[in-house]
Amino acid sequence: MTAKPRPIRKAVFPVAGLGTRFLPATKAVPKEMLTIVDRPVIQHVVDEAKAAGIEHFIFVTGRNKGVIEDHFDTAYELERTLADRGKRSELEALQREVPGAGQASFTRQQAPLGLGHAVWCARDIVGDEPFALLLPDMLHHADRPCLAEMIEAYNQHGGNHIAVAPVPEDQTHQYGIVGVAARDAKVSRITSMVEKPPRGTAPSNLHITGRYILQPEIFDLLATQQRGAGGEIQLTDSMITMAKNSGQPFHAVRFDGAIYDCGSKIGFLMANVAYAMERPDLAPLLKAGIKKLM
Ligand code: G1P
Repeated sequence: MTAKPRPIRKAVFPVAGLGTRFLPATKAVPKEMLTIVDRPVIQHVVDEAKAAGIEHFIFVTGRNKGVIEDHFDTAYELERTLADRGKRSELEALQREVPGAGQASFTRQQAPLGLGHAVWCARDIVGDEPFALLLPDMLHHADRPCLAEMIEAYNQHGGNHIAVAPVPEDQTHQYGIVGVAARDAKVSRITSMVEKPPRGTAPSNLHITGRYILQPEIFDLLATQQRGAGGEIQLTDSMITMAKNSGQPFHAVRFDGAIYDCGSKIGFLMANVAYAMERPDLAPLLKAGIKKLM
């Protein structure tokens, strides 16, 4: 009998990016703190991790990202004021969101050297155990959260898992792309990976959506990873080496929900509309408002 895979307790959130696509909004406010309806983007992604049973939240931050730490901390004066005014439900809702003592860690990526480098910055906090990685720009919207589905697949197969979804062929050069053994299966063995393939060379149209479960050996490879696509230290390049050299299996978990790239203006706007449409307090007014605008 094969041993049960080690549990996934920790999740890494790389939040050091500058958000240049959103200037001037992101001059003083981190892009991860822009709101989708009334919750910051990063809160939605932490919610996804929580729903999958993650216990420790590791944020790789950078300069001007201090408010992300504040957001995941107690706000004493605000809570005191809510209590004094008898706003119990608002107070409880706020308190529920704060990770417990020791359940959130913050480390800094001092220079923007790429996703692979950002993940490597978390190595000592993750330690020697498999972990989840969630890229906060990419909101995954579905009844069953993406990471929960991935952990289910991981518990069955062990190894490494990457969420994938189809993109139009003319967009494959913007993403990490994987080739898989069984195109239509929910979970399939990955046969090839490439970061941002030049147009016309992608092994498939399945892109890496920004959710990963990785074994800790990835950190050894990231430590020596050369710069790749875009002159950055790429996570995908280290995953390729790991799959090749260690024989560690990589599985693709196909995500069937909606994905909103909140690092782009249109993705951000669409996410706001989609999430608001699910809110009984907002949907009717929003629909009427949009109809009027059209
Ligand atoms: C990163 C990954 C890429 C993935 C993408 C998803 O790229 O390197 O493999 O497809 O996130 O958003 P980036 O968006 O940082 O260029």
